[in-house]
Amino acid sequence: MICAGNWKLNKSPKETESFLKKLLIAADQLDQSKFIVFPPALSLAKASEILNGSKINYGCQNISTVNSGAFTGETSVDHVKELNCDFVLIGHSERRSLFAETDDEVATKVRLTLDQGLKPMICIGETLKQREAGETKNILKSQLLASLEKVSSTESITVAYEPVWAIGTGKVAGPEQVNDVHNFLRDILIKKFDESFAAKTPLLYGGSVKPTNAAELAKVENVDGFLIGGASLQVESFIQIYRNSN
Ligand code: 13P
Repeated sequence: MICAGNWKLNKSPKETESFLKKLLIAADQLDQSKFIVFPPALSLAKASEILNGSKINYGCQNISTVNSGAFTGETSVDHVKELNCDFVLIGHSERRSLFAETDDEVATKVRLTLDQGLKPMICIGETLKQREAGETKNILKSQLLASLEKVSSTESITVAYEPVWAIGTGKVAGPEQVNDVHNFLRDILIKKFDESFAAKTPLLYGGSVKPTNAAELAKVENVDGFLIGGASLQVESFIQIYRNSN
């Protein structure tokens, strides 16, 4: 199982250094290639320095829709590439809701990421209102297909299903809900591309994943790993989620 930690706006460069040094020791005997961390942009240079030579993956939480120019305050994927990042997280629900990120922008960011040879991790998810209105699958389908607008079948992506109502709330989607959604997502990938594209695309679940619920969720068919917020901020809980799900 893949264990990806989205740190959001937590951990300075110094805190990143001490966390990652601890993680390298804790993951020494584990499959490091299954770990991904997403530090805040200003801590990525530190992550690059510490993780150089290890198999632990790291990536940026967001990039700009443009590579360079007069765009004060933006983050260029070219610079992310220079720091040897592996992944870019794209379309997190906090970006969509707090920063008004649109499906079109998500599709552009996915394209820019692939053009740099990096791996996009595309986040999709429904709100509680949408779930209660029975719109979950329509929303997920339209978010996923929109994000794949500029992707070809020979390319590789990762998809993270994060129900908005489960993020940071302690409410986790039940194994049956996750099973239903992940099967649905796999089918969309088969129809849009083909069996082999769908089979090679990791489908992660995110939303209040903890050491206590990881084992049960990991048993769900079509769950290939987790995207973890709060519980990824301590090495102990992050590692414990990996151990409990593998
Ligand atoms: P929590 O694990 O804190 O619910 O956050 C999930 C998330 O948003 C990861 O991207």
